Amino acid sequence: IFFIGITCIVAYLIGSIPTAVWYGQAFFNIDIRQHGSGNAGATNVFRVLGKRAGTVVMLVDVLKGYTAAILATLLWYAGVITETEILTFKIIFGLIAVIGHLYPIFAEFRGGKGVASLLGMVLGIHPEMALVCIGIFLLVVIASQYVSLGSILAALAFPVLLLLRIFGQKESPILIVFGFVVFLLVVLTHQKNIGRLLRGQENRTVLIRLRKK
Ligand code: G3P
Repeated sequence: IFFIGITCIVAYLIGSIPTAVWYGQAFFNIDIRQHGSGNAGATNVFRVLGKRAGTVVMLVDVLKGYTAAILATLLWYAGVITETEILTFKIIFGLIAVIGHLYPIFAEFRGGKGVASLLGMVLGIHPEMALVCIGIFLLVVIASQYVSLGSILAALAFPVLLLLRIFGQKESPILIVFGFVVFLLVVLTHQKNIGRLLRGQENRTVLIRLRKK
């Protein structure tokens, strides 16, 4: 229980790394939360600071979720948890990291919306499904030019495709419940985006540029 507790704290600290905020401060001397959509996430960094910055922030945020989930595998190697518990702990550590991303201790508890870190943890849990969801996300974003819509529909596809058993095997019930939790979380963090989408006022993919590269 001691090691599990420590790992929960580590997962929260990993998730708490406010990549978008630090990148904006370090390289552009701005608080990304005062620009564009105001969100401390990769999408808004793409929008405001350009492709290179957005890519770096996205990769680091994905890695945060992935690393947190993989901590469960490390605990298994160390003999702290059993093989059957790996999935449960991947979900627990991954979700704690996502909470860290949403409420980062290193950035006044004002973080992002958790899409990249959720994707990272799903990559660490069910890589094939993560790739399918990335495909759906890209199709929606390219067709609609709305990243938020891509995030929401990809998050909806995740539990639905698990239920439909697109890979032929019966998926574990805990994974399916987790899938719906992911969708719920994404809906909750995108409430303002959903409002803007319904009013036709959502930001397009790349709309404003603070500085042109
Ligand atoms: O990943 C966040 C994205 O779905 C929406 O970001 O900046 O348009 O609110 P943003």
